[in-house]
Parts: sequence; structure tokens; C-alpha cells
Amino acid sequence: MTEKRIVLGVTGGVAAYKACELVRLCVKAGIAVDVVMTQAGEHFVTAVTFQALSGRRVYTDLWDASIPNNMAHIELTRDATGIVVVPATADFMAKLVHGRADDLLSTLIVARQSTCPLLVAPAMNVEMWQNPATQRNAAQLRADGITLLGPGKGDQACGETGDGRMLEPEDIFRSIQALFSPKLLAGKRVLITAGPTQEPIDPVRVITNHSSGKMGFAIAAAARAAGAEVTLVCGPVTLPSPIGVSRVDVQTAREMFDAVKLHVGRSDVFIAVAAVADYFVVDSSKQKIKKDGSGKLLLELAENPDILAYVAALPGAPFCVGFAAESENLLEHAEAKRKRKKLPLLVANLAQEAFGADDNHIMLLDDAGTHTLPRAAKTELARYIVEKVASAIRRQP
Ligand code: PMT
Repeated sequence: MTEKRIVLGVTGGVAAYKACELVRLCVKAGIAVDVVMTQAGEHFVTAVTFQALSGRRVYTDLWDASIPNNMAHIELTRDATGIVVVPATADFMAKLVHGRADDLLSTLIVARQSTCPLLVAPAMNVEMWQNPATQRNAAQLRADGITLLGPGKGDQACGETGDGRMLEPEDIFRSIQALFSPKLLAGKRVLITAGPTQEPIDPVRVITNHSSGKMGFAIAAAARAAGAEVTLVCGPVTLPSPIGVSRVDVQTAREMFDAVKLHVGRSDVFIAVAAVADYFVVDSSKQKIKKDGSGKLLLELAENPDILAYVAALPGAPFCVGFAAESENLLEHAEAKRKRKKLPLLVANLAQEAFGADDNHIMLLDDAGTHTLPRAAKTELARYIVEKVASAIRRQP
């Protein structure tokens, strides 16, 4: 069995301490980590710490005479599944943009094969991140096919608050895990709806539901990890975008419908996870509705378009996956929904367990019958659903 291995670059930022936890997570998951530190990185954490955590030699010097052929800058990356720079300073990002090669880490990055993915987790003060030069560099790195992991927003070591905070080790670890996922959906385009929709009653009130977007976002991340090009159309949620996924934010069902119509033509798979409002308020008020003393408020509702039914009925429709959240008679209602919308695959869940939770209990319904999965984290179920979709589309004529 070939060893699972990455190269972890550590540059000079205070977030370097979080790289220690990342190494621990990788090692625990059976991923070998060759740590390469810049001189600045060594000011924050010592090589000995990484040596102890990784159980391997740590590389710090381009001119290390103890390496027999002195080719660490070539050999370290050759069988590695990827290079991950954690943290990446503003200075190191600038270096990457210009292809500079004046220390071991920058040299091995320049010398990596084009098939070796490079992931970079920026970490810096909010002003440094927002500086136009850093923003230009970030855009250039993305254009060069380098994946930027974050940065996130929040309190910073310097005492300021804002963008530039490094992602947490667990988030970066998920992206590392994704490097090792089988690319079952390579070359496929997947369109996903997620979250709730909001139907305005007036400028301050909406009709909505409790969908958090967690299930749809987890599927988007899993599809991306499986190599798909993913577009995620989502209603109002507070979740960060999954890395590498193109996101379209909408509010109402009709906006979601428009966004789906725009992207569906180039999609191989459509997964409708969103809890779309069935009705919208006709002529929603432009001004805040005041009490009129009658003790009631009558709203006229009209039916929203059924996005999934529309897509499934398109000539040459993508492979369609529907969801059904029911509060009773789950199987019966879900199978009726699958038949009515003519779906090859439907995921059924109980509304009272599924909305907002981190885990779920789902059943998959297809022409072969029903398959119940044990309760699991939505991230895990997402991987299973993606595998199921990949094997179904492989079997398609
Ligand atoms: O977001 P989370 O908090 O993680 O919760 C996940 C979830 C509960 C929202 C998800 O697992 C789920 O079940 N989504 C479907 C919710 C639902 O009740 O759908 P529905 O029965 O109204 O619709 C059936 C299917 O048609 C769904 O795939 C839906 O996206 C789609 N639909 C429905 C109405 C409409 N106008 N357009 C649609 O595309």
C-alpha cells in the first residue's frame, strides 16, 4: 500500500502553533506529514515540536549537507498527495505569486509537479489581508490554480478583529482529507440547492422554515472533494462557503428558480436539498404592515414554482436527486414524491430530526427499493450520497 503523505509548509506567523494540532490530526488519520519550515516559521514554533508530533525529520534548510543528494526540494513532493502551507504569511503569498525560490519551502513549491495540488491557509492582521497588494496576490494565486483555505474572520492575536484569521485546524484537516478522497465525480458538474427560502410579507417579515443549510453544504463539500465542479444555490444561511464551491445566494423560491435555470443547462447532476417555500405572498407590502384593529391579518398566497419537478422534466435532464422531509408516514409520502417528480433517487428524512441538526437519519429510495442508513453526521451522510450518485451515473447508458 502506498503511504498517504503530504508536505506541510510552516511560515512565520503566530498561527504556526495551530499547525501543530493539524499535524496531530493528520498523523491520527494515518497521513504522514513532512514538515518544511521557513526561517521565520522557526521563530514561532521549533522544529523539535513538529518532529515529535510527526515522528519524522523536519526540513528547514535548502543547504542541508546531511541530505545525501541535497535534492529535498525535488524529492519531498514527488510522491506527496499535496502541499499545504499553514500558516501562509502575506510575504509568503507575495513570494508564491512571483515564483521566488530562495528557501527550501518556496523552492520545492516552484519545483512541484503540475499534478501536485497546493493549498494555502493565509493568516495575518486584518489590514494586511485587506491591503490591495495582498488582495491582488490572493486573486493571482487563485488564478494560478492554488487553493486558498480561508482566511476566516474573528479576533486576531494582535488584538484587532476582522478578516485574516487562519481557519481552525479541523477545517484545514477536512481539506487535506479531501485530497485523498477518490475523485468519483471528476469532470462532472453538480448543481445543488440548499437552505431555506424566505418569502417577504412586508419589508421586515418573511415566511421561512428552519433549514440551516448544513445538509446541502455538506453535500456540496463532498461533491467537490469527489472532484466535481460544484455550484451551490442557497437561501439565507449563516454557513461559510465550502472551499472550491461556487456559491449563488438567493432569498426567495422564485430567485432560487431563476438561479437554477441559469446553471442547470451545464449540469450533470442536480441535488435539491433546499427546503423551498411552497407559497409566496401575493403583492407583499412595500411598507411595514400595521395592526388595523380587526384582530387578524389575511395574506393571499400563491404557489411557488417546483424547481426540482421543472429540472427533472427537462429534455436531457441531469441526474436528479430529491429530498423529502416529512413529519409522519415518511416512506409512503417520500415514495409518492419520488414517483410524482420522476426522480431516480430521493433522500427521505424526518422533519423533526433533520432541520438544523448536525446529524441525521436518512433513507435512500430508488427503483431498487429502500435503503436505511444508520444515524450519522451530515458530513458523513453527504459522502455516502455522493458515492451513491457517482455509481448511479456510472451505470447510466
Ligand atoms: O438544512 P438542514 O438544516 O441541514 O436540513 C436539511 C433538510 C431537512 C432541509 C433536508 O434534509 C431536506 O429534507 N430537504 C427537503 C425539504 C422538504 O421538505 O422538501 P419538500 O418535501 O418541500 O420538497 C421535496 C423536494 O422538492 C426537495 O428536494 C425540494 O428541494 C424540492 N422542491 C420543493 C418545492 C419547490 N418549490 N421546489 C423544489 O425544488
